[in-house]
Amino acid sequence: MYLGIDLGTSSVKILLISDTQNVVASASKPLSVNRPQRGWSEQNPAEWLAATSDAIDEIHASHPKELAAVRGIGLAGHMHGATLLDTSGDVLRPCILWNDTRSSVEAAALDADPQFRKLTGNIVFPGFTAPKIDWVRKHEPDIFSKIAKVLLPKDYLRFWLTGEYCSDMSDASGTSWLDVGKRKWSAELLAKTELSLDQMPRLVEGSDVSGTLKNELCQRWGMSHVVVAGGAGDNAAAAIGLGAINQGTSFVSLGTSGVLFAPNDEFRPRPESAVHAFCHAVPDTWHQMGVFLSATDSLNWWSSVCGETPQKLTAELGDRLKPAADLTFLPYLAGERTPHNDAKVRGAFIGLDHSHDRTHMTQAVLEGVAFALRDSLEALADTGTSVDHVLATGGGTGSKYWLNAIATALQLPVYLPDGSDLGAAFGAARLGLLAAEPLTPQEVCEPPRISETFEPNHDFQGGFDAAYQRYRALYPAVANYK
Ligand code: XUL
Repeated sequence: MYLGIDLGTSSVKILLISDTQNVVASASKPLSVNRPQRGWSEQNPAEWLAATSDAIDEIHASHPKELAAVRGIGLAGHMHGATLLDTSGDVLRPCILWNDTRSSVEAAALDADPQFRKLTGNIVFPGFTAPKIDWVRKHEPDIFSKIAKVLLPKDYLRFWLTGEYCSDMSDASGTSWLDVGKRKWSAELLAKTELSLDQMPRLVEGSDVSGTLKNELCQRWGMSHVVVAGGAGDNAAAAIGLGAINQGTSFVSLGTSGVLFAPNDEFRPRPESAVHAFCHAVPDTWHQMGVFLSATDSLNWWSSVCGETPQKLTAELGDRLKPAADLTFLPYLAGERTPHNDAKVRGAFIGLDHSHDRTHMTQAVLEGVAFALRDSLEALADTGTSVDHVLATGGGTGSKYWLNAIATALQLPVYLPDGSDLGAAFGAARLGLLAAEPLTPQEVCEPPRISETFEPNHDFQGGFDAAYQRYRALYPAVANYK
């Protein structure tokens, strides 16, 4: 048995899989995000531990024998967050998350230093870890002076599980301190933010062993010897779960964030396109991705405005695609990364008229997110990476309407895997399996069975293209509304 733990932004998900990779048990506990100021987004790491231990306790209660047979654990998590620890391993302040944009000034200053793009292959986005620490250095100098270790969110779970300070290459790629081509920390970049190598966790590949489960936790869950894999950032973990380790196996992720992910067998940086170029979770492999900050987060926001669940709102549209709306939604609720790198831009509905009701607005929200994916597709094309179909994963795949709209906006077939909602937790469990057993990524990372294919709707293609062009043209207008 193998356990996958995915520390998502809105919940922690645990998956127990068998040697044949069948799901034996799962559990999930919700997490909340605190937004104490405009553009801020934080979580309390103690809540991650409480939610994770509650979820594993739940599996322990329902499947004690199976849980006792676990040999490997894999970790996945939302990326880029800064979890700051003092010399005793205590957390110094709430974790500043990936969609927090308070450090836009610091990010721009670091990004203006050409060494960052040269060594990391990426823009220094405000959501990345280094500018967050620079913000802490300026605004909370007392806390900065006490930093003994900087951990990414899932790596704090690892510290609790194993006592090890360790990270993996895919997650470390999103810090702005990793030499992504060489897969090692850059002492030079760390020094530019007044940090040093000893404040960083050691690095392993995602499929390698990072440590073993502490005795007290083994006893609590009835386990004996359990290795903990390096694991991965949530997107690379989702890729492992979908078998997306070779070029040509792209996917879209409709989670809190939206992602278009493409594996590469070489490092392919092109920062000027605002595409991310990161290490993958298996050795000698990299990936590119377009990332935008509010995918299901846009629908969740709209659902809280309407006081209705996202499921009810999308159900009102039915499953059959309609022609593109004559109303545009820009999903920039928390600023944007690909393709604009603009932390300050905010979202909008444009074109409202008396005839529009809630359903039209829901449709515009879903289409706005589909157009954000099209932006990422075009940005990937600018780097020379072409995509001819995509798998789909994440909570948003529950809406067939959305998948039809995405297929039509991207002009690509969208394949929905069986159990697509297993996502990053399944990839994490596979990494646990790889760390525990002498198997290769190719043997373990089989592609999923496809339950449904969504083809582009050719009758609506022209209307969707025109609506996408309107969407593109509106960014400069809202970019100045700050
Ligand atoms: C990737 C990114 C998000 C988070 C949260 O760069 O910021 O996808 O990992 O899911």
